[in-house]
Amino acid sequence: MTRRPLLPLLLSFVLAGGAFARQEPQVPPNTPPPQPPAGAANGPQPGPAVKTPGPGERTTETTPAKPPARTGGHGDFLAIGPLADPAAAARGQKIFVATCAFCHGSDARGGNGGPNLVNSVLVLHDKGTGAEVGPVILHGRPAKGMPAFSLTDAQIRDVAAFLLSRSQAAANRMDYKILNIITGDPKAGEAYFSAHCSSCHSGSNDLAHIATKFEPVDLQSRFLYPKESRYPGVPGPPPDPRTEKAVIVKLPSGQSVSGKLDHIDDFSVSLTEPSGEHHSWLFEETPGIKVEVHDPLEAHATLLKQYTNADMHNVLAYLETLK
Ligand code: HEC
Ligand code: HEC
Repeated sequence: MTRRPLLPLLLSFVLAGGAFARQEPQVPPNTPPPQPPAGAANGPQPGPAVKTPGPGERTTETTPAKPPARTGGHGDFLAIGPLADPAAAARGQKIFVATCAFCHGSDARGGNGGPNLVNSVLVLHDKGTGAEVGPVILHGRPAKGMPAFSLTDAQIRDVAAFLLSRSQAAANRMDYKILNIITGDPKAGEAYFSAHCSSCHSGSNDLAHIATKFEPVDLQSRFLYPKESRYPGVPGPPPDPRTEKAVIVKLPSGQSVSGKLDHIDDFSVSLTEPSGEHHSWLFEETPGIKVEVHDPLEAHATLLKQYTNADMHNVLAYLETLK
């Protein structure tokens, strides 16, 4: 049997009625994704989605970039070079949080399997240019657990500027406030929580005392990425049952089977029924099959693309009051 990608077919499901909700893009760490052709500024992005805000969408990064401070400032102190361009660093932070923070921590100080990048010699040598960081992003280090990501040159420079701003902040205590992640306004965070989180959570019920359970950095990744106890494809503890995806498979015969989603990709879907019975279907062999995936954490995935930096800090500041 020839296995060829059926993405066009799957896409037609989406167009046909939105029945097919794909799982979030996964990057198998050992399969470097195809690189965009040289010069393709907006090539495919197989990594965790980096969202470019569309017209009218909420973003704090719409102000035109200010030229980087080339002279003076704290940056020259400690001979760490010119300060990172704040606008680029802010854009880079957004990309970093969505794409890299799972492993390297949202403040780049290391986390779930990824090393601290703030004190990385490679990042220091990069000086915010992307020259050193870019190849690591584009090729990954698959053997060591870092997948490849196809970011554009501009995105790489922004991420590099963000990493530079982190190491400068760490090297220079005058910029300490950048490093301190609880900079938000708890009142604004509470308002954001009421509007976006209270349909599922309550500060006096399920999230009561949450701030006593986690350090601020961990609490931040808990609400940014509650599901992922591990990166797709990287071994780790089993997922929290509350975060498991449910799936309904509608067969051409009219029969439908539902259960816990075990796996879905371009070729096949598999599930386990509540009885424990396991099923899988190859799309190519089952024309007309329809798949609906329900992710209890879909709201989190959606929110991750919507938070402004201020929202993130405000929500964290609010959660920190839940002692
Ligand atoms: C699945 C986890 C994972 C993700 C996601 C990830 N990395 Fe990594 N990264 C690693 C690991 C593990 C290493 C260490 C590899 C090694 O030991 O050589 C690494 C190394 C690096 C290094 C080299 C550090 C040094 O001092 O050699 C840089 C730079 C880096 N990552 C940047 C990024 C950026 C930027 C992103 C997002 C675009 C990202 N990483 C996403 C796991 C990850
Ligand atoms: C549509 C429902 C839904 C919405 C909206 C939602 N969440 Fe969640 N959240 C979940 C589910 C499901 C989990 C995973 C199960 C759990 O840990 O409670 C979760 C987990 C969490 C966790 C981890 C709890 C722990 O004990 O590890 C935090 C923190 C959290 N959410 C914060 C938020 C915040 C802050 C918002 C709004 C910005 C939000 N959530 C919006 C459903 C939701």
